[in-house]
Amino acid sequence: MGSSATPSNAPPSIRLTVNGGAHDVPATPDTALLHVLRNDLELNGPKYGCGLGECGACTVLIDGVAARSCVIPVRAAEGRAVTTLEGLGTRQHPGPTQQAFIDCQAAQCGYCLNGMIMTVEALLRRDPCPTEQALRSELQHNLCRCGTHVEIMQAALRAVQLRAAGAAEDSPR
Ligand code: FES
Ligand code: FES
Repeated sequence: MGSSATPSNAPPSIRLTVNGGAHDVPATPDTALLHVLRNDLELNGPKYGCGLGECGACTVLIDGVAARSCVIPVRAAEGRAVTTLEGLGTRQHPGPTQQAFIDCQAAQCGYCLNGMIMTVEALLRRDPCPTEQALRSELQHNLCRCGTHVEIMQAALRAVQLRAAGAAEDSPR
């Protein structure tokens, strides 16, 4: 009998690009992307809320588009650029959307904020100057159990201002 490759029980490795860095993670292809981000990469910005794609707490960007990582298998993110809340800025240098939520103190428990910030960020990346109605429409499927909607809308509008101010500073004079 000829020799054969040693069977291995180790899960296959999947290569992900997250916040600009490449990571080989040991995960079965159907594992939810959220679990890999939180458990393997220790990126705890995205939150586990419903686990059903309904609340938005787990939102990340995949190729710049908002996506609910609790219902996306990790294989679907392979070869694509994943951005989490941690990829938008740092504690010392928050990104403009993060800064807007800080400025407006738009949180009570804060559990929904990852989804709110990532959803606003995704919209501003494709439309830097959305109307208030467009912001409302984009956020309508993100749930906030604390009723912080007024402050969250103020933060979304402030994010538009901060992004515009940043773009003006960056533009050549
Ligand atoms: S945890 Fe993913 S949508 Fe609720
Ligand atoms: S601030 Fe608590 S769920 Fe939104």
